[in-house]
Amino acid sequence: MKLAKSFIAIAVISFFFASFITAEEPTGKDVFLNGKCNTCHAVASQAIESKQAAKYPDLSYLGDKGIAEATLIQYLKKEAKLNDKLHPVKFKGEDAQLNVLAKWLLTLKK
Ligand code: HEC
Repeated sequence: MKLAKSFIAIAVISFFFASFITAEEPTGKDVFLNGKCNTCHAVASQAIESKQAAKYPDLSYLGDKGIAEATLIQYLKKEAKLNDKLHPVKFKGEDAQLNVLAKWLLTLKK
């Protein structure tokens, strides 16, 4: 009985770690949604809506604007300006996530 219990415990723990290791990396879209960018921005081309879409720029075709990836990353950290302005909010996630997010935004083209 004791052995069965330990066996089950080991099975549960291994399953937990296995799923942790194989967990998929978040996509740029996931980072965008988790980062609540859509409280302000819509991305209509990706079916992402914002309740304040009229007030903030839609990012559907950001990739067509010729913004360099490094600049976009700095902009989202409030370390660089775009259109002469700093972004109103600073990205709060990890750098790796910001890279994925920036890459994804720049793929959005007409
Ligand atoms: C509180 C509202 C708000 C949130 C939340 C927000 N933004 Fe913005 N964002 C703005 C505003 C306002 C501007 C336009 C600033 C200006 O006029 O230059 C902007 C501009 C941008 C631009 C430049 C658009 C362009 O066409 O030049 C990008 C890219 C951008 N935001 C990405 C993001 C991302 C990614 C997130 C989430 C990590 C995010 N924003 C979260 C308000 C917001």
